[in-house]
Amino acid sequence: MQLASSSPSLVTADEDPTLRATVLDLFSGAGGMTEGFHASGPFQTVQAVEMDAAAAASYAATFGDIVHVGPIGEWLATCEVPSVDVVIGGPPCQGFSTLGKQDAEDARNALWRDYAQTIVRAAPKYFVLENVGAFLASEQFGDLREATGVGGLLADYAFEAAVLNAADFGAAQARRRTILIGHHRDLPAPGLPSKTHAGRHVPLSAVLKRVRPQVASTELPERSKTVGGRVRPGPFLTTELHVGRTYSATSMARIRSIPPGGNRFDIPENLLPPCWQKHKRGSADVMGRLRWDKPSVTIRTEFFKPEKGRYLHPTEDRALTHYEAALIQGFPKTHRWVGSKTAIARQIGNAVPIPLGRAIANHLAEAMRLSRPDGGAETRPLVA
Ligand SMILES: C[S@@+](CC[C@H](N)C(=O)[O-])C[C@H]1O[C@@H](n2cnc3c(N)ncnc32)[C@H](O)[C@@H]1O
Repeated sequence: MQLASSSPSLVTADEDPTLRATVLDLFSGAGGMTEGFHASGPFQTVQAVEMDAAAAASYAATFGDIVHVGPIGEWLATCEVPSVDVVIGGPPCQGFSTLGKQDAEDARNALWRDYAQTIVRAAPKYFVLENVGAFLASEQFGDLREATGVGGLLADYAFEAAVLNAADFGAAQARRRTILIGHHRDLPAPGLPSKTHAGRHVPLSAVLKRVRPQVASTELPERSKTVGGRVRPGPFLTTELHVGRTYSATSMARIRSIPPGGNRFDIPENLLPPCWQKHKRGSADVMGRLRWDKPSVTIRTEFFKPEKGRYLHPTEDRALTHYEAALIQGFPKTHRWVGSKTAIARQIGNAVPIPLGRAIANHLAEAMRLSRPDGGAETRPLVA
């Protein structure tokens, strides 16, 4: 049931625990943020917008046929924007990511304007914007602040933002992201969620120890689905993503030489490629082995390549599988995935960790005085 009304007065749903606040998920990817909101309880996503056909198909296979597949600009120009209680979304971040080129003119940075336009038309009570840590110091962040000033596009709204670490909210992963929560000026400022796991981070072992360490295949199961006129692999359950890759004899020898917690600096000289022989410094995460007793490093879109970061299994001589990466992100076993191995890895690495999304949703549920089916517990059992 939609709670949105023409007046943005405070929602009180204490009397009816079946009431759910409505959500619009922009740049939804495969639906990490939606998973977090649904895990919180009293939220129902009514519409998602996603340009990548495989990611949109994963979203639809998991949450139903509520995804507009296409660029947000096209959606705004041709579709009716639903009135919702909460708008969530993370415009793509390559433009100001510290990993990519700092190209201030990057057209993708202008997507925040589409995000702002959507807020004007959806008239939500709250909005949530997730982005890389560097967003907080970007020009776009300043533009957004200006837009909420007198006479600005978002003058009816104010917001607070901070860089939050998903590990402080129960994810078995250190992942720092800017989280911005906006609210209609007629409502009290909800602030940002308080850490639920400060000083008691969930170690990697909590999510991976019960996963079968052996990997039986390098290929996804044979299954396909026609999406947007193209045949794509899937849908697969998260549990079906326990697939590895083939390593050359040299790569395998390098991997075997890396002890728990080690990295490329542990590889004997005779096994090093010439470029690494010269570079004695640099990232200690390259070819790094994860540790059981700590949260994992940030799961990025190429977690399946050992040379891309600290992605080696703590005890097995291989990188993380897609299944393991999805579990580290907090995805439930029931999530469905569509696309090639590369496309699914991108969907996993791009996602907002489910425990972080859930903490944000719990915080908004409290602000909206919505009843939570779990009685307000901050954590649910981790699945592995
Ligand atoms: C960081 S990911 C979002 C992840 C998502 N919030 C989650 O938790 O799973 C950003 C997404 O924006 C999509 N995207 C990029 N440009 C877009 C556009 N112009 N319109 C719609 N979606 C777009 C990308 O395909 C990508 O899936």
